[in-house]
Amino acid sequence: MTDTYHVRPGGALRGSLRVPGDKSISHRAIMLGAIAQGVTEVSGFLEGEDALATMNAFRAMGVRIEGPDQGRVTVHGVGKHGLKAPGRPLDCGNSGTSMRLLAGLLSGQGFAATLTGDDSLRRRPMGRVAQPLSLMGARIETEAGGLPPVRILPAPPLHGIHYDLPVASAQVKSAILLAGLYAVGETSVTEPEPTRDHTERMLTAFGYPVTREGATARLRGQGELKATPIDVPADISSAAFFMVGASIAPGSDITLTGVGINPTRTGIIDILKLMGADLTLQNQRLAGGEPVADIRVRHAPLHGIAVPESLVALAIDEFPALFVAAANAAGETVVTGAEELRVKESDRIQVMADGLQALGIAAQPTPDGMVIQGGKPYGGGVIDSRGDHRIAMSFAMAALRAGAPLTIRDCANVATSFPGFATLAAQAGLGLDAA
Ligand code: S3P
Repeated sequence: MTDTYHVRPGGALRGSLRVPGDKSISHRAIMLGAIAQGVTEVSGFLEGEDALATMNAFRAMGVRIEGPDQGRVTVHGVGKHGLKAPGRPLDCGNSGTSMRLLAGLLSGQGFAATLTGDDSLRRRPMGRVAQPLSLMGARIETEAGGLPPVRILPAPPLHGIHYDLPVASAQVKSAILLAGLYAVGETSVTEPEPTRDHTERMLTAFGYPVTREGATARLRGQGELKATPIDVPADISSAAFFMVGASIAPGSDITLTGVGINPTRTGIIDILKLMGADLTLQNQRLAGGEPVADIRVRHAPLHGIAVPESLVALAIDEFPALFVAAANAAGETVVTGAEELRVKESDRIQVMADGLQALGIAAQPTPDGMVIQGGKPYGGGVIDSRGDHRIAMSFAMAALRAGAPLTIRDCANVATSFPGFATLAAQAGLGLDAA
């Protein structure tokens, strides 16, 4: 395991590269493939620890899954009622998506199951899924304060509900919709801001009708899913580190190929463009019901902005990288309305502010975001990523403009979302040694 990154200052990113498959779509391909009728062939699957945790959970429930082999996975669907009670707690590792979506899916099964995870995941809020699932008739228990482990007990058939999401969360929306597959009647979810809609799109691809009216997604329970091939695009959230790196490093010119550009995920592109970045989308096409493109990024001088709150949910995983962009953007960048960052794999507001300050960057955390005075020279130093994959990769890119080397600690979890990051980044021109 690669725990510490040593990154030399300076350099530029160049060339054409493909980042690994989309994490959100990879999770869903396993989940929906498992409960579909027939065999689902997946290509471009993310062979990262989070998606593998989902895969192992379904294997523990009796689903035969072959692979992954160079991104190819074959899921032998058991149908909606074919899962078997797992003989042990299901370990979701670091993955909030596994735990929250499984909580919804398992609520409808009629057998008992326990969901647990690593130290980070066991600090993350699960009451946000337990509460609406209980309203549907699920018997679901958490530890005090809504923390994992999550225990799901056998319950009579669920019934559909309408739920107004109190926070913009695709994981909560998806948990409710997946439980809704097993519920009597109609289940609908209204979201306060658009969030990623991969669950809705993939259900439709599996022949399960989901309707959308404005901010509300709706489905009727008790239909069937039919296996369909899934071609997973490259993950825009992984591409984001290279978009930021190339934008801030003079002389950079990279093309990121086959990146998913689902409009519920492209906040990073919009925000970087507002800051003056030079990004162009080429060769736009559809792959497996999802839009993809090659994204060319060339260095450009960035300037600070007030990030529109309407873009926050559409870039929710990209803020660690965006804070690094802001540190390299002339003037002030203000992020508000992003309090969800405090309950991700780490408290991403505090951990990023601590790291930026360690480099000498004026970064002031606020309850729901950050204020960064950017565009001034900064130094190197030691960064603690707190085991958060996206913090580690963001600071690796910060080295491109640092005045001295960076040592980034606790990077092993990069493997949850971006196996091979250190090698790919070094090939592109980052002075990264993983020890
Ligand atoms: C995800 C939704 C987001 C995101 C996470 C993946 C998903 O979480 O941060 O990395 O696959 O549905 P929230 O829905 O909790 O914001």
